[in-house]
Amino acid sequence: MASAIPSLVIAGSILAMVTVPVASQTALEVIRISTTSNGFDAPARGWNSFGIQANPDASPSFTFDQAGVITQCDVLSTNAGLKASGYVYCSLDSGWSVGGNGDDFGRIIPDPSKFDIPALADHLHSQGLMLGVYVVPGAFIADEAKTILGTNVTIGSVCSGDNGLARCNFNYSLPEVQQWHNSVVDQFASWGVDFIKLDFITPGSPASGVNLPLDLSGEVIAYHQAIAQSDRQIRLDISWKLDRSEQFFDIWETNADSMRTDQDINNGGAATFVSWGTVQRAIDNYRQYITTVSSFDTTLTIYPDMDNLFVGNAASVSGITDHQRQTIMTHWVGAAANLIIGSDLADLDDFGLYLLTNAAALEVADFTEDFPIQPRNPGTGAQSAQQLQAWIAGPSSTGEAVVIIANYGPDEGQGGFGTSVPGVQVVTITWEDLGIQGSFGVFDVWAGEDLGAEDTELEVQLEEGQSVLYHLNRSNLV
Ligand SMILES: *[C@@H]1O[C@H](CO)[C@@H](O)[C@H](O)[C@H]1NC(C)=O
Ligand SMILES: *[C@@H]1O[C@H](CO)[C@@H](O)[C@H](O)[C@H]1NC(C)=O
Ligand SMILES: *[C@@H]1O[C@H](CO)[C@@H](O)[C@H](O)[C@H]1NC(C)=O
Repeated sequence: MASAIPSLVIAGSILAMVTVPVASQTALEVIRISTTSNGFDAPARGWNSFGIQANPDASPSFTFDQAGVITQCDVLSTNAGLKASGYVYCSLDSGWSVGGNGDDFGRIIPDPSKFDIPALADHLHSQGLMLGVYVVPGAFIADEAKTILGTNVTIGSVCSGDNGLARCNFNYSLPEVQQWHNSVVDQFASWGVDFIKLDFITPGSPASGVNLPLDLSGEVIAYHQAIAQSDRQIRLDISWKLDRSEQFFDIWETNADSMRTDQDINNGGAATFVSWGTVQRAIDNYRQYITTVSSFDTTLTIYPDMDNLFVGNAASVSGITDHQRQTIMTHWVGAAANLIIGSDLADLDDFGLYLLTNAAALEVADFTEDFPIQPRNPGTGAQSAQQLQAWIAGPSSTGEAVVIIANYGPDEGQGGFGTSVPGVQVVTITWEDLGIQGSFGVFDVWAGEDLGAEDTELEVQLEEGQSVLYHLNRSNLV
């Protein structure tokens, strides 16, 4: 483990030296997440192929085909506890299916030069893993003369125009459009598909570069209903950077299990997977997301998808420092985001495995899947973007909570906070700032260290990009 252990200053001992603003803090409204619309009580954990497809120089030996994916996903079941830690989804991104047409009924089919999907599903299921596929809105323009399975209606009579993805735009008010989705999902279910990533959804998907209709929420509803009528439990993940207005958030959270809160975070085409400035943006997008959607209702029924986790490979390949890798893991766990690894699984380093499989961090994830983090600014308890930031999850009725304290380092342009304070910083967060009262036992998750009871504040020294993850517990104080 490469990270330094930040020092905790025992509450009270240096209080006289610290300026603590008083009394203007807003009350803490605890945010919860309950069962999602397709019946899930936790975000997905696993791996997705997009990172190594889009960053071939970061994983030169990979080819996107059956053998290449099996080489990656077998690591989930064979290497040091990844499957035991719940990383079971093997999710294929764009390119697994034929790009210009479907089968005789216009259903999406695998590219036979790359994938045999039923065989891949059997291989994964035999190891206790699950299969994910990737889809985009619409039916193929080339299939407009084909008849939708179980109907006498052609695709072209319910789907027209060109969305820029070789596909036409459905009229979602027509029942045959639902029947097309049912036929697609029924065939996925018969192959053994467990997860669908539905990309290019609007409103959202900014800068798509194609010709998307303004409102593709009907596509999300149609996939949800198709899953509901199928005989298989399938997750629906929607993408990307979806609209956060109440009108559309209601649709997302009643039809999908997770939603992307940002654009892609990987360095497309580069020799490293991710840049710290983009991670600052992703964390700020989560801040905007959670503060917005929790203002509609504090019990959510969808998990955030903060995009793939690029924490598994060495700093030189991941493109960020070990502190920053740990800060990513801390925030994705805190947010109850999907823990879908984007790293090259054939090239994990010890620190990557440690971050992904740390038992105490996954106990935090077991808590945040019900109680996700929200921001509380040091000194005020407000929820704005800050370079020196704190977050709280819970507390639950039994007095369990999670606190994250971070120094994101100078804003690299998209962090939302706009400050550039260099070097090590002391960050103090008081109970008033957090909106809690009384004594809590504090466990420093990454240090694996019990810090004893605190009832006033937490204070840490943090390098640029560094953060701490504390699991608080009132019931161990007796
Ligand atoms: C399709 O048309 C045929 C011939 O008219 C008819 O027998 C059949 O019931 C129709 N099927 C559906 C699903 O409407
Ligand atoms: C969709 O179908 C309905 C019912 O036939 C029709 O009234 C509506 O005009 C159609 N919408 C579009 C955009 O074609
Ligand atoms: C909280 O403390 C109780 C009692 O010591 C213990 O059983 C429980 O595991 C602790 N939970 C956490 C999250 O530390």
